[in-house]
Amino acid sequence: MNRLRGNAQCWCGSGRKFKRCHGDQRAMRRRPVQPGRVGPLLAVPSSITPPDYVNGQLPVTSSSFQVHSGESLERLRVACRVAAEVLETVGREVAPGVTTDYLDQVAHEAFISRGAYPSTLTYKGYPKSICTSVNEVICHGIPDDRPLQEGDIVNVDVTGYVEGMHGDTSATFGVGEISPSLQALIDVTRDATLLGIAAVAPGRTLNAIGAAIQPYAFAHGFGVVVDYGGHGIGSVFHAAPHVNHTVHDWDTTPFEPGMTFTVEPMITAGSPNHHMWSDGWTVAANDLLPTAQFEHTVIVTDAAVEILTLTAQGSSPAGTLALVAGETLTPKP
Ligand code: MF3
Ligand code: CO
Ligand code: CO
Repeated sequence: MNRLRGNAQCWCGSGRKFKRCHGDQRAMRRRPVQPGRVGPLLAVPSSITPPDYVNGQLPVTSSSFQVHSGESLERLRVACRVAAEVLETVGREVAPGVTTDYLDQVAHEAFISRGAYPSTLTYKGYPKSICTSVNEVICHGIPDDRPLQEGDIVNVDVTGYVEGMHGDTSATFGVGEISPSLQALIDVTRDATLLGIAAVAPGRTLNAIGAAIQPYAFAHGFGVVVDYGGHGIGSVFHAAPHVNHTVHDWDTTPFEPGMTFTVEPMITAGSPNHHMWSDGWTVAANDLLPTAQFEHTVIVTDAAVEILTLTAQGSSPAGTLALVAGETLTPKP
């Protein structure tokens, strides 16, 4: 499996070299994101039950899988629907001039009005209610006072805790008008996420996810982050299994009906090598080229897989499996 090279013909059929078409890194490159000022901790009303790790306790991690059915699945469905609604609400606010801190406030209020605790708030010391990862930031960007600029892209990652369950979902949004190559990065990342999800079914193994995602990203000339993956989720925020988005033939954990986990690939315009900001959270691409990410919480069903992080209307800014079924994906190479 080879990543499409700059001198190869672009996958879009233009007949131009990839590096002069959707792989034009000069058209994608943005001014490096500078850390801004992070606002004070926002309060959560005492009527909302926080997860165990709030109030000083260490987060429970679980080395066993999260498996849900019946009553516990109903509760997880609520948490995932709330997360999808909050993501949709925040997505509507993304615009030039809006600060990521404002997006955090919108999410914070949207969680609270639904009786949910924003899972990231004080998680291992994380100071905000969502993650906002702009341009070359790969994941875990902390909302701050930097106004979004026309042509930026921003991943908004929301996790909410309600009914004793965490629901986790994210999407990457363009800010105003963005370049066609950045739109392609977003589209390929969303479609790769959905293809990874669609590869899940009982009888198959965990490595089916990366086997669907990495070749798709590579065929479009993009990279895949190796070091961060999806995770089991339910009453615990980050549980087993670790979900790889790259090809790992050895990873033959079988899918079992009821298993719940996230699929959340980070796709890079350039190299997936990364570094950490001095804030200890923000992960950024070394080459400072933009990256995108989408995330859903899913459950293995008796027949295949179901996305749980959808609104009551069945929609999501992160897309639905109808996109895979309808073959409306980014042009195939
Ligand atoms: N929501 C992120 C995920 O997809 C986790 C964020 S943890 C934080 O797993 F502490 F960085 F916020
Ligand atoms: Co996650
Ligand atoms: Co997330």
